[in-house]
Amino acid sequence: TLTQHRGRGALICFEGLDRSGKSTQSKRLLEYLKQQGDVELWRFPDRETPTGTLITAYLENAESLDDRAVHLLYSANRWEKMQGMVKKLESGTTILLDRYAYSGAAYTAAKNIQGASLAWCQASDAGLPAPDRTIYLHMSPTAAASRSGYGKERYENIRFQEQVAQQYNALAQQEPASWSIVDADQDVDVLSTEIQHLAMTVLDDVKQGRALRHLR
Ligand code: TYD
Ligand code: MG
Repeated sequence: TLTQHRGRGALICFEGLDRSGKSTQSKRLLEYLKQQGDVELWRFPDRETPTGTLITAYLENAESLDDRAVHLLYSANRWEKMQGMVKKLESGTTILLDRYAYSGAAYTAAKNIQGASLAWCQASDAGLPAPDRTIYLHMSPTAAASRSGYGKERYENIRFQEQVAQQYNALAQQEPASWSIVDADQDVDVLSTEIQHLAMTVLDDVKQGRALRHLR
């Protein structure tokens, strides 16, 4: 039988502060892209894996762990999913990520731990597939905090989120070409449409043969 060669899938990452709307927008983009082909939404931390269970206990304050150990757990949580992710992409499936390695780097660097610079925080993720595009849902920490559901978990306080925002800013400046910063404080439907257009340009680039890169 004649099988038509399918190119690889695209890897599109959503990042942003807690309550910035990543889950809503990534789900909406998932529904939209289903009309174009195979697409899946993956979320990090993946709370279903062995490391995910530990991370949840930590976030709910049921477990206290050294900050570096937590950092490496989050990273390990991504490495656990790496081979499956690469296979999916190679088979032509597009993957949307609701948080990824940039969360890992930004949240730990925001803790200002002696010796855990942003570069240190990024090192444990080096070699993971790099997103073709990272969509950063930009929102002020105060605006995010006023949204419902905020405040239950460890990192959800304005002072800390301000530190996280600074680190995200530094990460965006490292790779300006692959980051798209969008206004997450605007009408949800308008934002969805903006993100759909963005995603279509990424799918086009990938169709043209853009190679999958790796985080450095
Ligand atoms: P998540 O389950 O995405 O929660 P939310 O729906 O509130 O965004 O992530 C839980 C928390 O984990 C969130 O505050 C960000 C933090 N985090 C890290 O500190 N490091 C990481 O590597 C990741 C993926 C998330
Ligand atoms: Mg949260």
